[in-house]
Amino acid sequence: MDFKRLEQTLKNINSFSEAGEGINRLAYTDEERQAADEIGEICKKEGMSVKYDSVGNLIARREGTHPELPAVAFGSHIDSVYEAGAYDGTLGVAAAIEIIRSLNEAKIQTEHPLELIVFACEESARFSFSTLGSKAIAGLLKKEDIADLQDKDGIFLRDAFQKYKLHLDKFGEAKQRKGAYKAFFELHVEQGPVLEEKNIPIGIVTGIAGATRFQLNIEGEASHSGTTPMGYRKDAFLGAAEIALAIEKAAKAEKSVGTVATVGVCDVEPGAMNVIPGRVKMQVDIRGISEASKKMVIQKLFQSIKDTEEKRGLIIHHTRTNDQAPVVLSEEVIQELSKTCDENEYAYQLMPSGAGHDAMNMTNLCPVGLIFIPSEKGLSHNPKEYSSIEQIAPGATILKQEILKWAGVADRTADKIQSLP
Ligand code: GLV
Ligand code: MN
Ligand code: MN
Repeated sequence: MDFKRLEQTLKNINSFSEAGEGINRLAYTDEERQAADEIGEICKKEGMSVKYDSVGNLIARREGTHPELPAVAFGSHIDSVYEAGAYDGTLGVAAAIEIIRSLNEAKIQTEHPLELIVFACEESARFSFSTLGSKAIAGLLKKEDIADLQDKDGIFLRDAFQKYKLHLDKFGEAKQRKGAYKAFFELHVEQGPVLEEKNIPIGIVTGIAGATRFQLNIEGEASHSGTTPMGYRKDAFLGAAEIALAIEKAAKAEKSVGTVATVGVCDVEPGAMNVIPGRVKMQVDIRGISEASKKMVIQKLFQSIKDTEEKRGLIIHHTRTNDQAPVVLSEEVIQELSKTCDENEYAYQLMPSGAGHDAMNMTNLCPVGLIFIPSEKGLSHNPKEYSSIEQIAPGATILKQEILKWAGVADRTADKIQSLP
């Protein structure tokens, strides 16, 4: 593989970004759709057949010598959060493109077809809904999940779809049947500090934390900030603050199993210096690889909502906007990835993923492997997110070899890699 070219591909994809700090390529925006089109063109040039499905996933197929066999799929996402880094998702797509290019150059044909998937709307940043594209492919999307989604500016998901000639009502058409894929692989930055701290080049993911998310609408009473005595107030923001601190405490009590809780959105209304906050809209994200532990934190959240209503005379409505169970990844794939690392003499670490990934939905269809590479200072969802090309190379190498192992090389003399039965 040509890692300089991989770096160029990353830069090329990242040239599609709205102005601002870092990368801003939110789901279903011109920048994200144009970047997907660009990848589609690259894949066509590499001889692949390219299509968008009904929710905007880009699927590029490289035929195998046995087109009737299930495809070996791999890929990631190119949409980003606000003020994002250059690697989250995009790395997995750039590496996938480089693998296709290198197979073409070496004239390696696989027995199973290969499918490079660029998933749409992995990030929940714009529509407060994550991994939409892979949920659709895996048959995990429900109409009620997406029918009313809106972004911060009040743009409905359905209208964003229309702008790009996609059809929200036809999301079901994106679903793939079980058996369509032999396996799915994703290469991703760790987004945490473990690999860098231990100086280990590869993380093999054993399980992915599930996110349970809530929208809280807190109603108090707006009033004059100068004339309303402290004891007369129904301050919605102070209620929000109490709840945020309560879930911090609850998650810290679950530290041993790594459960985490975050309030990432807290809109205070009407939002004026001299008005006591009358309403707060806040979003709570609770994640962990232990369902029991997550449930404990959720219980504490509910308790805190009740206590805060009583103590502060507030009315608090909550809606569960996401409820994903933690996912355990295939033991067989973990073992095969471990072998591939051993063969290449790369040290590896078996580890859970705290972040969500499209890979978790793909487990509904086939065995899945998720490969991590180190992130500098563990930073992610931040413009400073960084992994060097030297850190990327081992991960891309393992991804390529694993794909070839599962897809089988047609001309055995062209490559030493043996396919799995
Ligand atoms: C993906 O970035 C996530 O929020 O886990
Ligand atoms: Mn992300
Ligand atoms: Mn990601």
